[in-house]
Amino acid sequence: MNGSTSHDRRLSAKRVLLIVSGGIAAYKALELIRLLSKAGCGVTCVLTKAGAEFVTPLSLQALSGQKVYTDLFSLTDESEMGHIELSRAADLVVVAPASADILAKMTAGLASDLATTLLLATDKRVLVAPAMNLRMWQHAATQANLASLQARGVLIVQPDEGPMACGEFGPGRLAEPPVILAAIAQALGAGGPLAGSHAIVTSGPTHEPIDPVRYLGNRSSGKQGHAIALALATLGAKVTLVTGPVAIPDPLSVAAVHVETAAEMLAAVEAALPADIAVCAAAVADWRAEAQAPHKIKKTGKGPPALQLTENPDILRRLSAPGPLRPKLVVGFAAETQDLESNAAAKLAGKGCDWIVANNVGGTGIMGGADNQVTLITASGAEHWPLMDKQELARKLAVRIAEQFK
Ligand code: C5P
Repeated sequence: MNGSTSHDRRLSAKRVLLIVSGGIAAYKALELIRLLSKAGCGVTCVLTKAGAEFVTPLSLQALSGQKVYTDLFSLTDESEMGHIELSRAADLVVVAPASADILAKMTAGLASDLATTLLLATDKRVLVAPAMNLRMWQHAATQANLASLQARGVLIVQPDEGPMACGEFGPGRLAEPPVILAAIAQALGAGGPLAGSHAIVTSGPTHEPIDPVRYLGNRSSGKQGHAIALALATLGAKVTLVTGPVAIPDPLSVAAVHVETAAEMLAAVEAALPADIAVCAAAVADWRAEAQAPHKIKKTGKGPPALQLTENPDILRRLSAPGPLRPKLVVGFAAETQDLESNAAAKLAGKGCDWIVANNVGGTGIMGGADNQVTLITASGAEHWPLMDKQELARKLAVRIAEQFK
């Protein structure tokens, strides 16, 4: 995503107070300052003691062109600009990277150093971009802190999932600077290119009960659909995410509706209409048991029970049907194991949607994995996208959708 140009107008002449806390991702703050400055946004930096272990005040100063503040009890700083004033002179306070420690201090309302004092004293909106080891991110304490900060109106830029500096793999990597830039532009009242639009995204598998303990399901993890919901929200869309049972958390800043079955998913999607955009990334079960057994089906010793299946409603086809509630852009997915393009093109025509994102799920671990390789099929033909991680793909798709709406 090209971070700077589309946000230039919205960021110019604004002022951001950037707090850089400790963590290996602190180096990405340098790129963020560069992007903000390029967009005409003034940046004043505050570097915490832990942050200074990873980047120097001098590099922040060189890029921001401004004095860098580090010390709560500096008489010189205080005579130039009181620290309360520092927190109020900005249009937005940004913490990037935000360590688990600073998030905990913010939640508790501590004012133990310059950064936390400013965060407690500010009357401006605060946006945090967390970055930490995945276990720290997943810890109940961190998640509870984030929930409480979010409830107070703190904006959170979701971290990425991927290989981490500590050698582990998972969520907790600082979001890429262009993504943080887009969230800043949005927070500054600028809205983002999809501001004012409503998007419905379906994600994950559906579970179709056979009896009270068994169901028909599939391997969908929901990673791709959830990433798309987040990417659309980051560009300013109001997003309703209708998700089947998944093991991943709801993305921040989307309204999530949790369902089990295809019938429930359809009902939730219809209840969320009207929408401008619909992206059907869910792996909806094609069939369900005609009748759910009221009790656990027992082994009879006379072979397996016969399972009578019936067709599930096709949510994508229903959304694509002409009518006053049809979203302006309906995007479907096609998971294929052979003849990708011709099968996907047939699906585009058959379902009546506008675009199909086709991926080859044959044997490469794409279903449930971190990466995805797709071909985007639109009325103007097929575009082959290289292998990339699902978050990158989501951002690329969201940018394409925003271009369509320009
Ligand atoms: O027909 P197939 O399952 O291959 O089509 C995949 C596309 O259709 C995906 O976008 C999926 O979300 C959507 N779909 C749906 N409802 C169904 C089956 C598929 O929305 N019952």
